Amino acid sequence: MALYARITGWGMSVPEKVLTNADLSNMVDTTDEWIRSVTGIKERRIASSEETTASMATEAALQALEVAQLHPDEIDLIVVSTSSPDYLFPATACLVQDRLGAMHAGAFDLMAACTGFIFALNLASQAIRSGSIKSAVVIGAETFSRLVNWKDRNTCILFGDGAGAFVLQASQEPAGVLSAVMRSDGSGSDLLSLPAGGSRNPASLASVTNGQHYIHMNGREVFRFASRVMVQATHEAVTAAHLTLDDIQLIIPHQANQRIIESAVRGLDVPLERCMINLDRYGNTGAASIPIAACEAVQQSRLKPGDKVVLVGFGAGLTWGAAVVEWSGLIPTKAKIRPTQVRLFAHLRSFLRRLLRHVEGWIWGRS
Ligand code: COA
Repeated sequence: MALYARITGWGMSVPEKVLTNADLSNMVDTTDEWIRSVTGIKERRIASSEETTASMATEAALQALEVAQLHPDEIDLIVVSTSSPDYLFPATACLVQDRLGAMHAGAFDLMAACTGFIFALNLASQAIRSGSIKSAVVIGAETFSRLVNWKDRNTCILFGDGAGAFVLQASQEPAGVLSAVMRSDGSGSDLLSLPAGGSRNPASLASVTNGQHYIHMNGREVFRFASRVMVQATHEAVTAAHLTLDDIQLIIPHQANQRIIESAVRGLDVPLERCMINLDRYGNTGAASIPIAACEAVQQSRLKPGDKVVLVGFGAGLTWGAAVVEWSGLIPTKAKIRPTQVRLFAHLRSFLRRLLRHVEGWIWGRS
């Protein structure tokens, strides 16, 4: 019998601190009017010194597990899509695995920039559909505020921090990802990048002085690329699902720029009202933008069980992609997940494992 990967939980976490366009106009030579009219962004969230990609990813995942009523022990796979991981390694997903106490989960990061959530969702869904795993948590999370140059008005106005997560579970009823397209073009890798800190340009005094640890972007080229591929990828995904755009109740695009979304909507010839837009309040949260927008669409009753939705995104790489998803909702269960308890047990378990490792090391050292 065919297996499907139903989306049974969703959650989001954004920092409390709000940075408005007016605040930015005190930091760089810009105005609220310019930012609103050219990007549609009014404010974005900025992580506090205690918050990181892993902490926001964990909170979003906990919320999604609570919605799904799925215990962390039952998670087989955790994928975090991010371009702003806590470390180059270990994977942020492993930090999340530890904080959730997901003892049976494999965990890894997937980097496909702002398209990453779509890629991760598709891969996790395929793993469930193949029968190799039963459940997965897919997370998009970013702390871009630590990677932008707060003196560069071309980039610092665009980005924000946050995380969004979906829980996927095996189901025999048709639901979840119905089709997906994943595309890349590395010839455009220079258009949006963080040039230093990797193995090609390791951190050095020169790399820091030259500002190579910040996001560098050719905004105009990215704009042109994005407007084109959003339309293409949406058409391809809808056709692959044997549907037409008339069958789609909602489009959830990557939240980068209102004008890019409007241009895509014009190209697709669908009304703007069929598009979920919340970038005015969060800016571009990278791989987190689509799951955050999906959570808000559910809160606003714009996404209901049975709806077919297109998720479509683009980003550095270059990468782009789209997925058609049948929104399905919860699988009834008697389980009761309490995030506070999960956090506490995970913390305790992590502490005991560290202690055990310490004791083992001590015993081995003596023998
Ligand atoms: N405030 C005021 N003026 C600004 C500004 C700011 N924050 N940033 C740039 N400008 C100025 C420029 O200096 C330029 O001035 P000039 O004409 O005197 O040289 C003018 O505004 C136009 O700049 P330009 O870069 O051509 O603007 P644009 O219309 O292309 O808009 C972006 C810039 C970045 C908003 C737009 O290109 C964009 O959104 N691109 C896509 C970026 C993106 O989505 N990246 C993430 C992908 S996941």
